Amino acid sequence: MPSSEGAEVNVEVTVLLGAPGSGKGTQAKEACKEGNFIHLSTGDVLRAAIKKGSDLGQKAQTFMDAGNLVPDDLMIGLLEDTLKGYEKNSRILLDGFPRTDTQAEALEESSANVTQAIYFNVPEDLLVERITGRRVCGNCGAVFHTSFRPAEDDGKCDNCGGELNHRADDVEEVVRKRLEVYWKQTEPLIDFYKKRNKLKEVNANQPIKNVQAEFRKFFV
Ligand code: AP5
Repeated sequence: MPSSEGAEVNVEVTVLLGAPGSGKGTQAKEACKEGNFIHLSTGDVLRAAIKKGSDLGQKAQTFMDAGNLVPDDLMIGLLEDTLKGYEKNSRILLDGFPRTDTQAEALEESSANVTQAIYFNVPEDLLVERITGRRVCGNCGAVFHTSFRPAEDDGKCDNCGGELNHRADDVEEVVRKRLEVYWKQTEPLIDFYKKRNKLKEVNANQPIKNVQAEFRKFFV
């Protein structure tokens, strides 16, 4: 919930680490249904900015469409501004940030208290199928999959009846570029958090419910 003064406050952050398609967003959304957590997805914030046609959205779109990372200075500024909007002691599931060493250092130096980083481990060969089959509700943001989590009424969201969309960057060519960028720039952050004794790991190569059970053990 936004703080009325917008002043800098301390929030508790769990970083969700893992390749595109590893299930970070799916698990964060499930966890938030109980109301104890806030899901902050930098990808969702950027997509909302693009939809709105804001300055940030216009700057970010070319990078995202090509499967590249949005530059660090824009992302760090965005994160700092967003964190300032939360009440003290909010519990944030941070999905999609950090993605580079520079972002990880900036997060450590911010007012946020990073308590743990949970790595969603999935074999590389499953990721393309997971991402290209993803469908997202244009109204409530619920995430489905054509094979692994199909909607009951094809093309319509089970929760709100909204239309299911295929993300522009979920086509195979862009997915392969996103994975290449992930291995080069983001995967090394596993070591970054291991060195700080903050790394936890989930076997994300199992049915969604089982991943959920493993994930939730880190929040007792
Ligand atoms: P972003 O939106 O963060 O995308 P991403 O990291 O590529 O992550 P995904 O949303 O693809 O994967 P996910 O792990 O959340 O998977 P999901 O749960 O949906 O970023 C998009 C772009 O924004 C980036 O490319 C970049 O340009 C820019 N950006 C964002 N943050 C940035 C930053 N910090 N710095 C620079 N640039 C930034 O699951 C995927 C599918 O699999 C779904 O269909 C789901 O139903 C299914 N599924 C989930 N779990 C399972 C399971 N256990 N078994 C079977 N299927 C499953």
